[in-house]
Amino acid sequence: MSRFTGVPEEQLTTWLRELGASRLGARLEERWRNDTGSALSGYSGGSTLGPSNEGLYLLVRASHPDKVVETGVASGFSTSYILQALKDVGRGSLCSLDLPVTRLTGSVNADGVREKVHVRSVTETGQVIPDDLRDRWRLVVGSSTERLATLLEGLGKIDFFFHDSDHSYQNMMFEYRTAWTRLAIGGVLASDDIDWNSSFFDFAKEAQRAPVKWVGRGAIRV
Ligand SMILES: C[S@@+](CC[C@H](N)C(=O)[O-])C[C@H]1O[C@@H](n2cnc3c(N)ncnc32)[C@H](O)[C@@H]1O
Repeated sequence: MSRFTGVPEEQLTTWLRELGASRLGARLEERWRNDTGSALSGYSGGSTLGPSNEGLYLLVRASHPDKVVETGVASGFSTSYILQALKDVGRGSLCSLDLPVTRLTGSVNADGVREKVHVRSVTETGQVIPDDLRDRWRLVVGSSTERLATLLEGLGKIDFFFHDSDHSYQNMMFEYRTAWTRLAIGGVLASDDIDWNSSFFDFAKEAQRAPVKWVGRGAIRV
């Protein structure tokens, strides 16, 4: 993370300590329990509950973006970490995109793979996001295929894009390509679940950039 962002390791460690002190993880769990009446499993929170959320937080904090766009909110775990980073930096806003309807069992994407994380209705989209983080957040309801290009056009240049919606090869390539043309110089294109298919690596080749894979405390250049 330090090599990629240029932020010294001691600074990143301080930021992680601050993230811990904010008790964000515990607050999200508490909110989840109150709203759903059940304990949080890694499954319900998706993979972004652990190290990937830390990575996302650090990346947003290090790049101190003005405009962030995210696709795929579900209950709002990654959204909360992005918003916490923006709050801690003291600037920026996040616009997130998610579908208007979801299925109880999750939907099958264009690659035939079942998307596991989902909410039961759009009223639950972002339900765990703490109230004090919501002032920097806007939710756009619709599919990225239909809404992403227009949304980005309305925002002008963006500084940070995070994909975590439909993980089909086709949709990931579409989102990366669409967001890339709108990224400001020095901006960041980040993605969850890059191992579902080869799209992130294919796109990196196309964009002539070296992709960086975050695997927890430490990043591997691939
Ligand atoms: C993996 S979950 C997001 C998890 C969330 N980022 C987190 O870390 O808590 C995927 C979400 O993407 C949404 N989604 C699926 N296909 C989509 C599309 N084409 N456009 C926008 N959202 C989509 C689903 O409704 C679901 O809420």
